[in-house]
Order: sequence, then C-alpha cells, then structure tokens
Amino acid sequence: MKKITIAIDGFSSTGKSTVAKQLADYLGYIYVDTGAMYRAVTLYALQNKFLSEDEFDKKSLIKSLPTIELEFRKENDNANAEIFLNGKNVEKEIRTMYVSGFVSPVATIPEVRKKLVAIQHQMGVEKGIVMDGRDIGSVVFPNAELKIFMNANAEVRATRRYEELLAKGDNVTFLAILENVQKRDLMDTTREDSPLVKAENAIEIDNSELNQEDQFTIILQLAKDRIAGRV
Ligand code: DC
Repeated sequence: MKKITIAIDGFSSTGKSTVAKQLADYLGYIYVDTGAMYRAVTLYALQNKFLSEDEFDKKSLIKSLPTIELEFRKENDNANAEIFLNGKNVEKEIRTMYVSGFVSPVATIPEVRKKLVAIQHQMGVEKGIVMDGRDIGSVVFPNAELKIFMNANAEVRATRRYEELLAKGDNVTFLAILENVQKRDLMDTTREDSPLVKAENAIEIDNSELNQEDQFTIILQLAKDRIAGRV
C-alpha cells in the first residue's frame, strides 16, 4: 500500500501528539514528536548553565550543538518511543513546567532549528511517518500528502495541560499554565525563523469542542483518502 507523510502542526497543548500517535499506531507508521527534540536541547542548555532566569548564552549553546545527540528509542514494539539525550532517557524531565518555561527562546535559534530539521528530514525519507510540531507542513515536509493544523482556545488547552500535570503529581496552578500557553503562542507565532503558521494546503481542525475519538475519525478518514489516492 502507498505510504504517505502526515504533518501535524498547531498551537501548544492542542493534542497534536495524541492524535499523531493514534494515527501512527493505526497505520503502522513511525511517529516523531519534534517538540520533544526542542525540549531536549533546552534541557541540555539548562544542564550546562547556558540558560537561566537571568541570561541565555546562545553562543555557547550554538558551539555545543555538534555534541548533542538525540535519539528516539522504544523499550519494546508496543511501547511509545522515548527521547534520549546523549544516551540518557530524558522523556520525563523534558515535560516539566520548568523546561516548558524555557523552550520557546531555544526554538527561536536558527542554528538549533537547522540541526533539528536536518534530523527530522532524515527520519522521513522513506515516508510512512506522522510528525508533529510547528513547522512540519511549512518547512520540514512542505510536500507532505496530508497537513493538519490544530487549534483550540487557550483556556481549553490550559485546562487539559493542568489536568495532565495534576495527574502526574506536579504542583502547578491553572493561571501559571494559562500564562505559559499564551506566552508560547506569542513566541511561536512571532519568531523570525519558521514561525507557527498554517501551511499551504493544511486542513485546520479546531478541537475546542471535539472529543478525541471524533477528531481521530475525521483525521484518519483524511489520511485514508490520500493513501487510496482519492484526493
Ligand atoms: O509541542 P511542544 O509543546 O512539546 O513543543 C515545545 C516547544 O518547541 C514549543 O514552544 C515550540 C517549539 N517547537 C518548534 O518550534 N518547532 C517544532 N517543530 C516543534 C516544537
């Protein structure tokens, strides 16, 4: 059967990774969470003290980029792929509010983007891939057969994120999360290099009032139509 490339972009906490994983599982495709890659580079910058509340030594981070190795590994066939930074599993660490608070400035650096886009490109050469992020349909795979742009209002997104972090036992307030979501929206859409935009030919899905099941059904049908060559 023909394999396609599926690009899923959109605002933070719109559930991109949930639907991307569902699609990849169903179709037997590879799933790549590119946000995890930007988060891992951010964690590296924090660990190496290039980045703090007070300053950001971009030069040193850029100089260190060749020493950053990123890899997705699966424990077994049924497990989700987890991200490894220089050989260490950092899947949990990169999801904390602490890292979330610093990731947007790191994602503005063109050298960081160039390195990560090159890795992403390589992962998709054989198609059969679902990749989610901010610039997948616009920069990484502009020729993707299916491009989805996901949106939902900020309060709905913050509520989802809040419930997720509470369930994990994180000590967070709803307001802090809403502010983080809004700040990231602004930075993601206004940065100079590869800002978050709805790519040409992308199909916009607002899931403020859509449940996960209905959303999956809609997007899966769009994928099936393209795999079968109906579109
Ligand atoms: O999807 P996420 O929230 O895990 O992404 C983390 C950050 O990385 C987000 O602020 C935007 C940035 N990002 C990006 O600039 N380009 C991508 N392809 C993916 C994420």
